[in-house]
Amino acid sequence: MIILPYLLQIPTRITLDLNSPGVAVSPMLYGHMTEEINYSYDGGLYGELVRNRAFLDDAKRPEHWTAVGQGAAIALETSGPSSARPVALRVRGGVANDGYWGIPVRPSNSYHLSLWAKADGAGPIAASIESKDGSTVFARAEVNGVSGTWRKITATLTTGSEAEPTKDARLVLRTGEARNVWLSQVSLFPPTYKGRANGNRSDLMKMLGDMKPRFLRFPGGNYLEGNTLADYFPWKQTLGPIEVRPGHRSPWGYRSTDGMGLMEFLLWCEDTGAKPLLAVYAGYALNGSYIKAGPELKPFVDDALDEIEYVMGGPETKWGAQRAKDGHPKPFPLESVEVGNEDGFDKSGSYEGRFVQFYDAIKSKYPHLKVISTTGGKDWLGVKFPITQRKPDLWDEHYYSEAWDMMGMATKYDDYDRNGPKVFVGEWASHDRIAPWAAGAQAGPTPNMRCTLGDAAFMTGLERNSDVVEMACYAPLLVNVNRGGRQWSLNLIGYDNMNTFGSPSYYAQKMFAENLGDRTVPVSLVGVPKQTQGEKQLPAIFASATRDSKKGFVYVKLVNALPASHEVAFDLQGAKVRSDATITVLSGDLKAMNSIAEPTKVSPVTKRLRGIGKDFRLNLAPYSVTEVTLRCTK
Ligand code: AHR
Repeated sequence: MIILPYLLQIPTRITLDLNSPGVAVSPMLYGHMTEEINYSYDGGLYGELVRNRAFLDDAKRPEHWTAVGQGAAIALETSGPSSARPVALRVRGGVANDGYWGIPVRPSNSYHLSLWAKADGAGPIAASIESKDGSTVFARAEVNGVSGTWRKITATLTTGSEAEPTKDARLVLRTGEARNVWLSQVSLFPPTYKGRANGNRSDLMKMLGDMKPRFLRFPGGNYLEGNTLADYFPWKQTLGPIEVRPGHRSPWGYRSTDGMGLMEFLLWCEDTGAKPLLAVYAGYALNGSYIKAGPELKPFVDDALDEIEYVMGGPETKWGAQRAKDGHPKPFPLESVEVGNEDGFDKSGSYEGRFVQFYDAIKSKYPHLKVISTTGGKDWLGVKFPITQRKPDLWDEHYYSEAWDMMGMATKYDDYDRNGPKVFVGEWASHDRIAPWAAGAQAGPTPNMRCTLGDAAFMTGLERNSDVVEMACYAPLLVNVNRGGRQWSLNLIGYDNMNTFGSPSYYAQKMFAENLGDRTVPVSLVGVPKQTQGEKQLPAIFASATRDSKKGFVYVKLVNALPASHEVAFDLQGAKVRSDATITVLSGDLKAMNSIAEPTKVSPVTKRLRGIGKDFRLNLAPYSVTEVTLRCTK
């Protein structure tokens, strides 16, 4: 008979050396990474409810718009009011928009409707939010002022206090049968976070803010670059009123409205307490084409300098003045700029020259800014990336690994060269066997507990080594869970148009970020049971600890990757602790996940612990992530 070592119930001894000063923990360690993928903004965080609002999603058909009423007709025409809105929808009778998997209705909500219209006959437009079959009208308003020339018209539609909540309503505009009405840019916003015009969903903003992100890396990811050289994130075209934003093609299979533009990203940072980490386009497209370093690249470097100026320049500068005009005179606290995204995929080797050109231009104008290279971590596809000419302040490493491989990476930075560039783990996530880009809608949409164990084990390594790992962010962040909503199988936070939920990994991230000190406490583990996964033998217990020097709190994080509970025996060296502590535990079966139907099936439970002393024992739950807050008195 084989006896698995953990069944012998030998406790693991965990020694916390509180005599040692440890290393400084990066105050920027945990942040967010975002891009337009999985309907993260359009159909996600960004509040807009009308889908295909500028009729540009398909040149042939007005997708998501249908004629309403007997004999009604709609057609696309290239007679829109401006170059940003070249297409108009001609309507006779009435038209409905079905939103992003329906338009959500809540009682006592006011919806802000805005549209551009002209008509060849007089009369109002009757706007309503109603059920798909038209039998229930939740809110209505008369839109007046339509004339023979293009005009912007707004109206408010308010639902009654008795309105039955539904995800499945539609917006209907009845224009009358006796005339043609042309529409452009039809937009409907529910109440938004902080009541901002062109704002975000409140429930998702709250979930993001609750994670206490220290930074937000934006706008991508692949979304920064686009599939071809024409498709990169056009930040200048994302400023100002939505009717002057043409939108652009995104690499994830749908068009972006750019309603979530540069200013909206910056406000998102401000609203969640995160510092902006701006990724500037560096002349490389996902199809492998690139702009050669030198004079051809110069306009792109200049564009990046303008963008930086928009973010942090004083209102006396050209782009700082534009930011003030856009409603935010105060500069945003930019500290880091990333040059491109995953340029290791550029097998031509052009990145070295492109990086140097950006690096020099940024540093000469903004010497204090940290400049991040995107080729960190590994030799990409056999191409070596020596730091020959410029040493980046940080370099960005991306890891999408199978959960148990991710656990194996918990010690990855223990012997990292302390003289090398600091590390920014700018994208990372564990998956359950199938890679998230290959699984698409077959897996997920959010990680299960197996992935969470990999994630948490990896984070213990990030914390222990946060003298070199300055920043880290999970990716992707957001996913619309409706059929057709995702291009990447595993994502941190799921939602439809009414509900949201955090994955177990969301809760693990939150536990780690909320309970982080300013110095590490050296941790040693003796008697760690092993676990076998296929060919691999791995430790089954992982740990890290940090202390808050001001409060005297010590935060210990423990991961138990075993299917059984496991006892750990603490030895606290060099400190006296209060006899009470708090413990937060996240645990569940490997396959356990959260969902719209069961949003908190796997979620942390916090309790008081008593009887804590220099030596104490704790039973770690099977397959669990545990955080213990100890209060030191010396
Ligand atoms: O996070 C999804 C994608 O993975 C990002 O867009 C890209 O940078 C990476 O390859």
